[in-house]
Amino acid sequence: MRNQIFRTHLTELLGIRHPILAGGLGPGVSDGRYVAAVVNAGGMGFIVHTGYDDPDQFIDEMRICRELTGGKSFGVNLYISRVAGSVEKIIARIPQLVEHGCSVVETAGQNPAPIVPALREAGIKVIHKVPGVRYAVSVARTDVDAVIVVGNECGGHPGIYQIGTMVQAAQAPGVIDKPVIIGGGIGTGSQIAAVLAMGGAGVIMGTRMMVAEELWPSRAYKDQMVAGNGTESVVIKKILRDNHRVLANHSTAAVLALEAQGVTDFEAYRPHVTGALTREGYRTGNLATGTYDWGHAAIFADQVEPVEAIFDRLIDDAAQAVGRINAMRFLC
Ligand SMILES: Cc1cc2nc3c(=O)[nH]c(=O)nc-3n(C[C@H](O)[C@H](O)[C@H](O)COP(=O)(O)O)c2cc1C
Repeated sequence: MRNQIFRTHLTELLGIRHPILAGGLGPGVSDGRYVAAVVNAGGMGFIVHTGYDDPDQFIDEMRICRELTGGKSFGVNLYISRVAGSVEKIIARIPQLVEHGCSVVETAGQNPAPIVPALREAGIKVIHKVPGVRYAVSVARTDVDAVIVVGNECGGHPGIYQIGTMVQAAQAPGVIDKPVIIGGGIGTGSQIAAVLAMGGAGVIMGTRMMVAEELWPSRAYKDQMVAGNGTESVVIKKILRDNHRVLANHSTAAVLALEAQGVTDFEAYRPHVTGALTREGYRTGNLATGTYDWGHAAIFADQVEPVEAIFDRLIDDAAQAVGRINAMRFLC
């Protein structure tokens, strides 16, 4: 594992070696084993709470994570939905999070204000993720510890405005009075150095990490990502104002056809976007159907290797980027 080369508000906040978050990966992809590997490599990872229909399985994943890290703390991703009862369900979970060693949550979805006080009271740090600076500004007014802003390049949900990461990374730290973590298309150390240079406290990655050896999706899935060049994604469900960047395949073609017809009833989309199809594809490597969050950073996912090896390369590359800038400084 590489030595710490950056000390930022994020590394200090979470007590981690590198300013790198490995964002929650659903459905059930970022499990205890993977999150433990991220924590052991000096970053912070998040077990996705909604990834487990069976609450006992979620608890098992937290146990596995705790065991594999030798008791280090770890993160959980909490999705706050619009559905009535979502907030109450999350609040009811908090004692379990504390009991099993979760020290930080990555929240996403609705504004986290209703759950932040209970989380903070329990000693859990809150980092809320949004797909645009305009949302981050209002979230930063709540008592969250930090804010994540992801740009259009991201795998998953780039938001309806689809503003690029470079623009948001440059804007966000100037208008948000809390540590800002930047994501969307990040997969190299030079991008990490650039984010820090722009005032960010760290980065978040999802797509780049999908080739990590510790992740359970099949080797065939990972090989397809390695073979990818970053152009294979498409944004679907714009008509539902639920923009979703995923791998282009038969399911996304069917979804785009419905959108072209002006269909706005989600029930028509459901058979193509169901999580069951996606889980099956991760297991078998047959990605023709199902929806697979897949961002532009696929271009950087160039080999299957352990999380620690990915992190080592990122840190070496970041150090080189800083060296290049330092070398230039003396030229002018
Ligand atoms: C396969 C995959 C699954 C994801 N699942 C979730 C999820 O369940 N919840 C969530 O908040 N974000 C999810 N994300 C988003 C990531 O946590 C992260 O914000 C995003 O991937 C960063 O952009 P990048 O893909 O360009 O690195 C997912 C991303 C990927 C690639």
